[in-house]
Amino acid sequence: MAKPLSAHPSFTLVLIFLYLSCSFHFHIGECHKPKRKAALFIFGDSLFDVGNNNYINTTTLDQANFWPYGETYFKFPTGRFSDGRLISDFIAEYAKLPLLPPFLQLGSQHSYYKGANFASAGAGALVQTFEGSVINMKTQLKNFKKVKTWLKKKLSKSKSQKLLSNAVYIFSIGTNDYLSLFVTNSSVQVSPQYEKMVVGNLTTIVKEIYKIGGRKFGFLNLGDLGCLPGLRILNSSSKNGCLEKASALAKLHNVELYNILLKMKKQMKGFKYSLYDFNSSLRERINHPSKYGLKEGKIACCGREKFRGIHSCGGKRPVGHEFELCQNPSMHVFWDSYHLTETIYQQMAAEMWNGPSNFKSLFQCL
Ligand SMILES: *[C@@H]1O[C@H](CO)[C@@H](O)[C@H](O)[C@H]1NC(C)=O
Ligand SMILES: *[C@@H]1O[C@H](CO)[C@@H](O)[C@H](O)[C@H]1NC(C)=O
Ligand SMILES: *[C@@H]1O[C@H](CO)[C@@H](O)[C@H](O)[C@H]1NC(C)=O
Ligand SMILES: *[C@@H]1O[C@H](CO)[C@@H](O)[C@H](O)[C@H]1NC(C)=O
Ligand SMILES: *[C@@H]1O[C@H](CO)[C@@H](O)[C@H](O)[C@H]1NC(C)=O
Repeated sequence: MAKPLSAHPSFTLVLIFLYLSCSFHFHIGECHKPKRKAALFIFGDSLFDVGNNNYINTTTLDQANFWPYGETYFKFPTGRFSDGRLISDFIAEYAKLPLLPPFLQLGSQHSYYKGANFASAGAGALVQTFEGSVINMKTQLKNFKKVKTWLKKKLSKSKSQKLLSNAVYIFSIGTNDYLSLFVTNSSVQVSPQYEKMVVGNLTTIVKEIYKIGGRKFGFLNLGDLGCLPGLRILNSSSKNGCLEKASALAKLHNVELYNILLKMKKQMKGFKYSLYDFNSSLRERINHPSKYGLKEGKIACCGREKFRGIHSCGGKRPVGHEFELCQNPSMHVFWDSYHLTETIYQQMAAEMWNGPSNFKSLFQCL
C-alpha cells in the first residue's frame, strides 16, 4: 500500500513542476515580446516640458519658445528649456518610441498609443506653486484622464486597460515648489515639513494613476538646488558658494521621496518603480566637469552676470534684454540659470537607462 501511494505525490510534483515551468516560460515570452511597445506618459516640470507652455496663457518666465533655446539640435526654439533635447526625449528614444509632442499641441492624439507629454515648465507638486502661470499636477492628471478616455473609445476596454497597465509613467517634480520660495518676493513661510506636503501631493497623483491601472513608475530625486546658477548668485557672502537653505530643502525632499516610494511598493500590489539619483549625477558634473568631457561646471552658457545666474537667456524676460551666450553649450553643465545642456541630459538619460536605476527594466516586463 505504501509504495503506490508514495509514487503518487512525486508524480503530482512532476506535473506541478511541468506546469510551473511551462507557465514560467510563457510569462518570459510574454515579457519579451509584448504586442505593443510600452507607452510612455510624462509628467512634471521644465526638465520634461517639450512645449506645453507654448499653448497656455503664461509669461516668458516659464517659456522657452525663442532663440537661442533649441539652437543645437532642433535649430529652432521648441519650448524646451535647453539648447536641444531633454531627458524625456532620450528616454523615449531608448524605448524606441518617437519624440512625444506636447499634449496641448494640435494633433497630439495621433501618438496617444505611444504615450503623451503633460509636463509644464514651472510646475510644482503643489497647486499654489507659480499658480496661474503653469499647468499644475492636478491639471496634468486631468489631461492624462482625457487621454485614457480617448484610448478607451478607440480601443476595446480591455485593450486600453492593457496599454495603461503596461505603460511607463515618469515624473520630474518638486524643484519649483522649493525654487518658488526663493525667487518670488512673496515671503511665504516655509512650514515645517513642507517637503512632506510636496511629496504627499505627488503621492496622491501616483496613487490616482495606479488606481487607473498604471504600475510602472520612474522618478528623479532633486539636485542641490542652491547650486543652480540662478540661486548661487543669491549667496552674497561667498565667491563660489551655493545657497545652502535651498539645497537643505531639496535634501529633505529626497529623503521623504525615498521613504514614500519604499512604502508604496510595500502597500501597493504590483507597484514597480525606478528612482534616478539626479543629485549625485549633477553634483559629480558640477564638481568634476572634465571627467565628463566638459569645461565649465558652474557658469551657465546663457544668461547674465555672476554664473550667468540672471535668468535673461533670450532677452525676452522681465529682467531685460541683455544676455550672454557661450560659443559651445556642450562644454557647459548649465544651459541657462536653472537648466542643463542637452549634453548633460543625454549623459543622464544614458545613466538612467543602463545604470542602477535601470529605467530599461520598466519598459521590458510587467
Ligand atoms: C492672460 O493673462 C493675463 C494676465 O493674467 C490676462 O490679463 C489676460 O486676459 C489673459 N488672457 C487670456 C486669453 O486668458
Ligand atoms: C521684489 O522686491 C524688490 C525690492 O522690494 C523690487 O524691486 C522688485 O520689483 C520686486 N519684484 C517683484 C517680481 O515683485
Ligand atoms: C496637496 O497638499 C495640500 C496640503 O496637504 C492639500 O490641501 C491638497 O489637497 C493636496 N493636493 C493634492 C492634489 O493632493
Ligand atoms: C554661501 O557659501 C558659503 C561657502 O560655501 C557658505 O558657507 C554659506 O553658508 C553660504 N551662504 C548662504 C546664505 O547660503
Ligand atoms: C546630494 O548628495 C550629496 C552627497 O551624497 C549630499 O551631501 C547632498 O546633501 C545631496 N543633496 C540632496 C539635495 O539630496
